Amino acid sequence: MKLFYGLVVHSKSIDDLCFLPNTVIIVDKGKIVCIQANADVNKVQQEHNISSENVVILKENEFLMPGMIDTHIHAPQYINAGFGLELPLLGWLNKYTFPTETRFSDLKFANEVYTRVVANTLINGTTTAMYFATIHKDSALLLGDIAHQIGQRAFIGKVSMDQNSPEYYIEEKGSAIKDIEEFIVSLQSKNYPNIQPAVTPRFAITCSMNLMKTLSELASKYNVNIQTHVSENPAECEVAVSLHEGCRDYVDIYAQANLLTAKTILAHGVYLSDKELEVLHRYQTSISHCPNSNCSIRSGMCDVRRLMEKGLRVGLGTDVSGGFSSSILDAMRFAITVSNILSLSKSEDYKPLNFRDVFFMATLGGAQALGLDDKVGNFEIGKEFDALVVNLAPTDGNLEVWPDESMENRLSKWIHLGDDRSISRVYVNGVEVKEGAINTLRIKRL
Ligand code: GUN
Ligand code: FE
Repeated sequence: MKLFYGLVVHSKSIDDLCFLPNTVIIVDKGKIVCIQANADVNKVQQEHNISSENVVILKENEFLMPGMIDTHIHAPQYINAGFGLELPLLGWLNKYTFPTETRFSDLKFANEVYTRVVANTLINGTTTAMYFATIHKDSALLLGDIAHQIGQRAFIGKVSMDQNSPEYYIEEKGSAIKDIEEFIVSLQSKNYPNIQPAVTPRFAITCSMNLMKTLSELASKYNVNIQTHVSENPAECEVAVSLHEGCRDYVDIYAQANLLTAKTILAHGVYLSDKELEVLHRYQTSISHCPNSNCSIRSGMCDVRRLMEKGLRVGLGTDVSGGFSSSILDAMRFAITVSNILSLSKSEDYKPLNFRDVFFMATLGGAQALGLDDKVGNFEIGKEFDALVVNLAPTDGNLEVWPDESMENRLSKWIHLGDDRSISRVYVNGVEVKEGAINTLRIKRL
């Protein structure tokens, strides 16, 4: 058993951000067994018979928050983060992304890059990541091994694509199905407690209807999550619909492929029509909002308020390397900025996203979008303890707080100005992982 004591910040819903002072949280075998605000910590410690080496007392300038959730990140593209952003989506995929992903048939190379992406995202507070890997089964399995070893909660997607891709980076029709089924079975049989496979058709342009239909059958047979991209860029939308005859619009392609489920997350959704949003709502399919990527490869600006008003669950994604940063703090900031810009052309009663909204999206909202909110996303008895200790007075960086500042303002400052230096501890399922991730990076130099 471990006891945490201090200021706790979490969302109960998008409109209910809670600051709980002097709060005790007790964790047993990874799960939260007790939460008590305004508690007498010594009394609770004695009642539960917890020894002092298992007590974490937060400092004056620290608070405890749920771990952050990246609902869309391409692990192999981590090595491209920060360059190649001059082309829009389809040109960018051909010039930068497909050649880079091809290199992950090499397991030694994959091992080096995947170790770094898992460790670095953990250090930056991503306790759960929904990953795209590449088409290579063995290196996707390796990503699962690495996330398990370093201690991140993750969904691992072996990418499926069988058409309209370069001849050096495409799956044969037969092996595409065989490989994904073997991937799911192998990863599930490892019984890693925090790692799950995800069925991952890349997007409607590079997947035949036949492949997508079979993938949906496998997702249901093995009860796994599904992820893909939708309606990211105008040229992409046009090509996708022209390729799938008889489909009314982009969402209809996935509807006809039976890929829309309550365990499906679609990245982007910038150009979805009202009709498409209604269909997604009916299937309870969620959206990963990736604002850095949408700005960096100039895909467009997604109106998250509109998606939420239609009842969709929306999480945040970094979409590395369409997005140049693998930090969810960066995704929060970009989400606010995009929303502010959109608001300039809306009526006065339009409410742009604020720091409370994006804090929710980075935590409970992301968990809801991935169907994980029975396990993580905030602090409730019975949930698994994925958490960050945030230090609002790091010894360096731009984050500065003053003694008389309200907690609301401090949280807003952290969201706008914080980085990994202000994240002092990271826990996944009750296990502290930040120090281990840093050590891993020290050993593994590329
Ligand atoms: N659509 C299909 N593949 C990709 C990808 O790798 N990144 C992004 N941003 N969009 C995609
Ligand atoms: Fe993506």
